Amino acid sequence: MSAIEADSIWKEYRRPHVRATTFKEAALALLRGQRGYDEFWALQDVSFTVEQGEAIGLVGPNGSGKSTMLGILARVLRPTRGAVEVTGRVCPLLELGTGFHPDLTGRENVFLNASLLGSGHRQTAARYGDIVDFAELSDFMDAPVKTYSTGMVIRLGFSIAIHMEPDILLIDEVLGVGDEHFQHKSYARLAEFKRAGKTLFVVSHSLTGITTVCDRAIWLDRGHIVTDGDADEVVRQYHDAVIAWEQSLAEAKARDASAS
Ligand SMILES: Nc1ncnc2c1ncn2[C@@H]1O[C@H](COP(=O)(O)OP(=O)(O)OP(=O)(O)O)[C@@H](O)[C@H]1O
Ligand SMILES: [Mg+2]
Repeated sequence: MSAIEADSIWKEYRRPHVRATTFKEAALALLRGQRGYDEFWALQDVSFTVEQGEAIGLVGPNGSGKSTMLGILARVLRPTRGAVEVTGRVCPLLELGTGFHPDLTGRENVFLNASLLGSGHRQTAARYGDIVDFAELSDFMDAPVKTYSTGMVIRLGFSIAIHMEPDILLIDEVLGVGDEHFQHKSYARLAEFKRAGKTLFVVSHSLTGITTVCDRAIWLDRGHIVTDGDADEVVRQYHDAVIAWEQSLAEAKARDASAS
C-alpha cells in the first residue's frame, strides 16, 4: 500500500515588493495597476508515490522546493494545485526549532510538542524518560530552550519525533546538525525504523547521509523533479551536475578574464 501519493503538486508563493513608503506612491501604484507582489512557483507539477516501508531522500540546491514539499506532506502548507494523500500516522521534524517555544523549558517543550503531535499528557509522561535519555539532555530539561545550542535543539526534536511511534517520519535537514556521536545514533535508529516497515522521507544536503539511509531519491531543481530513482544513482547524477556546473562557471570566468 502507498504511504504517500503526491499528484501534480503546484505551489505558488507571493513575494511582496518593497512597500511603498508614502500614500502617494501607493496610490500611483494602484492607478498604474501594479500589484504589490510577484508570483513565484516553488513547486511545479511534482508527482510521486512512496510505498509503505520505503526510505526516500529529497535532494537539490537551496531554494529548489524541498522544504515546501515536506511542509505540504506534513500539512503545514497547502498546495496551490494538486493533491497529496498520506496514509498513516505522520511525524514531521521540520526545519530547526519548528514547534519549540524558546521561553519554555525543555521539559515543557516536550509536552507541548508531543501534544501537537497528538500524544496525551499521560502518554507523553510515560515516554518522557526515553525521550530525554535518547537526547542525552537530562541536565538541561529545566532550562529554557533558547539557552540550547543548535545541536541540542535538534537532539530534542529528533528524540520526540521518533518516540511518537509514527508510521511515516518526515525529516528536514536536521541529521547533519547533531555531533558525530548523535549522528551515528540517529542513523542507527532510522535503520531500525526502516526494518520495522516504517516509511522515511528525508530532506538533506548530506549526500552520504541520503545514500546511507535511503533506497530511493528524488532530485528537485527549481520546483521540478529532475530524476527519481535508486538513491546511489540519483545522488551521483546530482553530484556530477554540480561539478559540471562549477566547471562551466570557472571556464566562463577564465574566458572573461582573457577577453578583457
Ligand atoms: N513563505 C514564502 N514566501 C515566499 N517565497 C517563499 C516562501 N517560502 C519559500 N519561498 C521560496 O520558495 C522557494 C523554495 O523554498 P524552499 O524552502 O522549499 O527551498 P529548499 O529546497 O528547502 O531550500 P534549502 O535547501 O535552502 O532548505 C525559494 O525560492 C524560496 O524563496
Ligand atoms: Mg529547506
